[in-house]
Order: sequence, then structure tokens, then C-alpha cells
Amino acid sequence: MDPYLLGLRLEGRRVVVVGGGAVASRRVPALLDAGADVLLVSPKVAASLEDLAAAGRIRWEPRSYRPGDCTGAWLVCACTDDPEVNAAVAAAAEAQRTWYVRADDAGASAAWTPASGQAAGTRVAVLSVDPKRGDPRHSAAIRDSVVADLQSGRLSARHGRRHPAGVAIIGGGPGDPGLITVRGRQLLAEADVVLTDRLAPRSLLDELRDDVEIIDAGKIPYGRAMAQEHINAALVRHAQAGRFVARLKGGDPFVFGRGAEEVLACLRAGVPVTVVPGVTSAVGVPASAWVPVTHRGVAQEFHVVSVHVAPGDERSTVNWELLGGSSGTMVLLMAVERIGAVADELLRYGRSPDTPVSVIADGTLPTQRTINSTLEQVESRVAEEGVRPPAIVVVGDVVSVAAEITELMRHVTA
Ligand SMILES: C[S@@+](CC[C@H](N)C(=O)[O-])C[C@H]1O[C@@H](n2cnc3c(N)ncnc32)[C@H](O)[C@@H]1O
Repeated sequence: MDPYLLGLRLEGRRVVVVGGGAVASRRVPALLDAGADVLLVSPKVAASLEDLAAAGRIRWEPRSYRPGDCTGAWLVCACTDDPEVNAAVAAAAEAQRTWYVRADDAGASAAWTPASGQAAGTRVAVLSVDPKRGDPRHSAAIRDSVVADLQSGRLSARHGRRHPAGVAIIGGGPGDPGLITVRGRQLLAEADVVLTDRLAPRSLLDELRDDVEIIDAGKIPYGRAMAQEHINAALVRHAQAGRFVARLKGGDPFVFGRGAEEVLACLRAGVPVTVVPGVTSAVGVPASAWVPVTHRGVAQEFHVVSVHVAPGDERSTVNWELLGGSSGTMVLLMAVERIGAVADELLRYGRSPDTPVSVIADGTLPTQRTINSTLEQVESRVAEEGVRPPAIVVVGDVVSVAAEITELMRHVTA
């Protein structure tokens, strides 16, 4: 017989789990996500389950199963590694007409746990009903591909369900399309209009449906300030026309990304807006070149600085004297064209000339390259190598940690 699929609403309902090993460690968090009142019966349990018990999220009876343990349960999971105990648990549940799942014997279970996942506001559950393909890995593989397609927008019910409203300001990460968050990708897949930036992960746009309007905000003329006003106006205009607008930005929208200006513009116009944080290039790009921005015993602080105007420029608000006196890591954005002036300033205020510097261009992209140097030499090295933006400059001893990591990496084959 085919199974009859149901979504159980377990909030506040007792679920008894017997056994505390690997299977229980997978099932209990999902039961808790569904709001179940979990009673765990097992003499020993995995560390993650012990933590849940210590935090008061489940009740744990540290003993063997006893008749009567299933009383009052809506669902019972028999997950021990002893078939006799599982059979006794199942028999007790059957006798009191409670649904039960036996982890060791699908044929003797009253219910089966599907491979399940969630994306785009949808819970997906897959059960294999073909006896030749009853392998749980088969169901898990189908679940994975459906969830991935929902996340990417390849599979979408965009016009068939209630639509999000307003504007989503989405941090796309530093460039590699795999570094956007799951939520960012889901909202992007639901958009009617996408306004994208030059440094956003543009390869994601290829996955959008043909009827999605894509506006390249990097091409809006009128100079920087004016262009921002036009972007704000476009966000508001499309949202007010009833379209769901995704604003896809590079890195994190609130790190030198003008994301808050866009949020304010939407709210001032009465347009609902949400922000999806992103992996900022300030941290993600150094990591992609194995540079940790902090490292125990090496750097206890890191400073992220925009050098869109040079030190000494009347528009600069950066305290270079303070930064020059610090021994922490400095992560400089938009600094390539002004690297000489920055190095001079840091040297002037006390940073050592041989402080290691790493310049990472096109971070996380196939064209990524890294130039290592010192504070004294960096300007000439950047010129010699013809480094062009976008690039991140990291100043500090953490650059030496990257050198150690890359040396060790050479001896470790995947
Ligand atoms: C206007 S800022 C935007 C920063 C962005 N909001 C973030 O959180 O990463 C642009 C600067 O970010 C840095 N940047 C962004 N993506 C980069 C990448 N893939 N590789 C190197 N630097 C990058 C460069 O310094 C670039 O000039």
C-alpha cells in the first residue's frame, strides 16, 4: 500500500524517543523545530542530546526503556540499536494506537520518516515507494535536488502563491555565487525586478526566469550621489507598482554598501523592506586567501576602513594616527589607487616598515590573485603587478599566518 502523507503539527504534543545515538541526534532537533514536547529515554545519549537536556529543551530519562514510557505520546520513535527493545516499544505504541517509527525496520514501522528539507517557504518531504529504490539515500538525493532548485529559483511557484511585497536588500557576498545566503537566494528567486550592482554575484542572474526584469544599477549615469537617488527612486517605483523587488548588492549591504540609505528611502515612501545580511568582502576575501583577520596571540582586533578618499582629503574622517599606533589587523577597502598615501600615513604614525601586507584582487572569483608585500614596498608592488580594483588590502601580522597555512597546504593533497 502507498503511504498516506501528512504534515504533523506537533507543537506542545508529547513525542517519545527511545535511544540516544546517531538516529536520535538527527530526529530530535527536527522534532524540536516542530515544537514537540520530547521525552528521551536512554541510559546514554550523544553529547548534542545531553546539551539539549541540560538546556531544558527536552526531558531526558537516563535509563533503559520501561513499559509505560509511551503513555500519552502522539508519536513514538524507536531508535535504539537493540531490535528487541525497538520491537517492544513498537508493540506498546501499537497497542495504544499511537503512530511509531522504527529506525531499524521500516517494514515493522507504522510510519516512515521522509527525507525532508525546506526552501522558498515550502517544506519538501520525499518517501521512496519503489521497493527496489527503498534506499534512504535515494529519497535524500531527490530532496536535495528539489530543495536546491527551489533555492536557485529553477523550480518556482512564483505566480501561483502569495507573493512577498516590497523590497529585499540582499547581500550577495564577495562574488562567488556560492557565498550568498540561502535566504538571499530564495528572495532573489521570487523577485519580479532585480536591481544589481557591479560587484554583486551576477552569475546568479542567469538562473532567473525570463520574465524577471534586471536593471543594472552600475550603469545608471549622473555620478555617484545622483545615481543613488535614481536607484532609491527605482526601488520605490517598482515596489509601489506591486512588484517584488530584489536589490542585489556585493558583500554585506550595511558595510560600505549604502544599504541603509536604500532602507530609509523605502520606509520614507511607505514601502515594506527587508535586509538579508551578506558575507562582507572585508572578511570573506581575506579568508579566501587564507588570511584570518584575527588569530590568537597575533591579532586581537581588526579595523575595516574605507579609503574611497585618501588620507589628508578634507572628506576623510578616518583617524590614521590611531590606526598607525595600533598593532591590530587593518582591512582596507577601495584602497588600491591610494595605497601609497595610506602606507605613508601608517608609517608616519608608527607602523613598522616590514609589517606584512596582502593585496587580494577579485577575491573568491576564478580570477582571484594575491600579492604579498610589506608596508614599505606595497605601493611599488601594486604598480608592478598592475593590480586593479576590486581588491582588499590586509595590513598586519595575520598575513604571516596565511603564509604558514599555504605552506602546509602544499603538503596536504585532497
Ligand atoms: C563599495 S565597497 C562595497 C563593500 C561591500 N558592501 C562588502 O561588504 O563587501 C567596494 C569595495 O569592496 C571591496 N571588494 C568587494 N568585492 C571584492 C572582491 N571580490 N575582491 C576584492 N575586493 C572586493 C573592494 O575594496 C571594493 O572596492
